[in-house]
Amino acid sequence: MNRRDALLALGALPLFAQAATRSLPTITVNKTPTCGCCGLWVAHLQKSGLQTQVKDFDDLTVIKERLGVPASLSSCHTAEVDGYFIEGHVPAAEIKRLLSERPRARGLTVPGMPAGSPGMEVPSGRVDRYDVLLVNKEGGTSVFATYGD
Ligand code: CU
Ligand code: CU
Repeated sequence: MNRRDALLALGALPLFAQAATRSLPTITVNKTPTCGCCGLWVAHLQKSGLQTQVKDFDDLTVIKERLGVPASLSSCHTAEVDGYFIEGHVPAAEIKRLLSERPRARGLTVPGMPAGSPGMEVPSGRVDRYDVLLVNKEGGTSVFATYGD
């Protein structure tokens, strides 16, 4: 082990990790005033340690267009964080991963509203299979994560 590795092992790394957590950017959540599942998703983000700012709009179309959310991949709310869009019920863990990996992309989406995604929990606890998609700068997608049974 060289000196730098030894220093990292001795505690520089936990300090760095703490600083990284503290400096996570605030997520702006654009939603419609009457959307219940949007509010539950915001609560999920807050429980996961993410800072949120909520803005209500009667129509999100203009915001989705500005951020480049493909219409066919849209959902009930459109969030913004650090230059990325977060469309729909994306799990907080994937937002944190996006912010640490920082791929060249427009953002993440969970199209529609799959049962069992964060904010869309059902009493039975069932989680429908769904993908978290990364939307690249050209509007194409790749699977960022998969959830459910
Ligand atoms: Cu929803
Ligand atoms: Cu929503």
